[in-house]
Amino acid sequence: MTWSPASWRQAPAKQLPAYPDAALLAQVEAELAAMPPLVFAGEARVLKADLAKVARGEAFLLHGGDCAEAFAEFRTTHIRDTFKVLLQMAVVLTFGGQLPVVKIGRIAGQFAKPRSADDETIDGVTLPAYRGDIINDIDFNPVGRVPDPRRMLRAYHQATSTLNLLRAFAQGGFADLHQVHKWNLDFVAKSPLGDRYQHLADRIDETLAFMNACGINSETTPQLRETTLYTSHEALLLPYEQALTRKDSLTGDWYDCAAHLLWIGDRTRQVDGAHVEFCSGIHNPIGLKAGPTTPTDDLRRLLDKLNPHNEAGRINLIVRMGADKVAEHLPRLIRAVEGDGRVVAWSCDPMHGNTIKSSTGYKTRRVEDVLAEVRAFFEIHNAEGSIAGGVHFEMTGRDVTECVGGAFQITEHDLAERYHTHCDPRLNADQALELAFQIADHIKAARPRR
Ligand code: PEP
Ligand code: CO
Repeated sequence: MTWSPASWRQAPAKQLPAYPDAALLAQVEAELAAMPPLVFAGEARVLKADLAKVARGEAFLLHGGDCAEAFAEFRTTHIRDTFKVLLQMAVVLTFGGQLPVVKIGRIAGQFAKPRSADDETIDGVTLPAYRGDIINDIDFNPVGRVPDPRRMLRAYHQATSTLNLLRAFAQGGFADLHQVHKWNLDFVAKSPLGDRYQHLADRIDETLAFMNACGINSETTPQLRETTLYTSHEALLLPYEQALTRKDSLTGDWYDCAAHLLWIGDRTRQVDGAHVEFCSGIHNPIGLKAGPTTPTDDLRRLLDKLNPHNEAGRINLIVRMGADKVAEHLPRLIRAVEGDGRVVAWSCDPMHGNTIKSSTGYKTRRVEDVLAEVRAFFEIHNAEGSIAGGVHFEMTGRDVTECVGGAFQITEHDLAERYHTHCDPRLNADQALELAFQIADHIKAARPRR
């Protein structure tokens, strides 16, 4: 099969919605194909070079954001607060780990969700499962649950204005290191983590004052003044991804210009399936989820297909085992990949293998399980002589109560208070910051002594 942006249509596809109105779908696809791209191919190439550094241990990857973005949650404050927490985490990791941090958001396009079951039944009524706002409505009613292609246009426009704001924040002064105190969110400032962060921010201030005295400041050094936040989402809804795939005029290569990095989820990683076919031909960096049910041989075949020339920075292998399974499964994957001399940027998603149901009926995660998986990820890489390159979180800048534990000791009974996610439970800003401090310690411990 020769690759084209449409060649995935010849392969078996999981998790794609069945649109009842084919003519409307075709019309929306044509409309999207005529819209401007969200990102430029050159940016995806810079990310690839950054991920090559992550693979070599010269930088650390921080990847995080919502499980699913939602139309109803679209607010300036939500975008700003997620950006703030990512900046805070990055500063903690950079200062503590003493490595540059590559930042990627699950944002500006993370709308489509794979589901374990095609249907949902409530009180004897069965309807199609919710698959993310880009596909259907979360409300449990027969009209809203029908997949509607026009939702792709709304998602595109929300992604575009989200990215526009993020670019303004990243380049326009908000991310200037001299603002390090102002990134603290009000509710975090009141917690023990807030104190720890303030203390670090004071030390950064002191360092900046010293550097200024040496002639290094925001005017002379753009790195102090601005930052880069790359975007990413799961390459799940292939009609949307195809419509935003464009040929780069500089290189003649195809790029999915809906985001800088696209990832393949744990449910759609079939070697001969449509999602892998699509991702094999775009030149963006590709994230690949690997779980306890990923056979070692499948992983080899996936890497052969997705990265036949073993290009550094092309693959971010996102391991999501679960705290109780990581010791059993990660070593076999590391030995296969590294033993073949393949280059990947390893990262740890400590969320998706640690989802549980609380006694109060909520889907949740324990911060202690999340921490335990991250810790094991570092220990195993240290033991194998490979590089623990980064982390991948579901998190938000909002003061939600979706994961249990953490500095504020959120209990199963607290979950009902502020449980806002449209899909999986996210770390709140406190919990995310707590993790960042711990990870910084792991990075420091893993760094070879010079
Ligand atoms: C996700 O990242 O939201 C997700 C669904 O992950 P996975 O494919 O690893 O289950
Ligand atoms: Co999720």
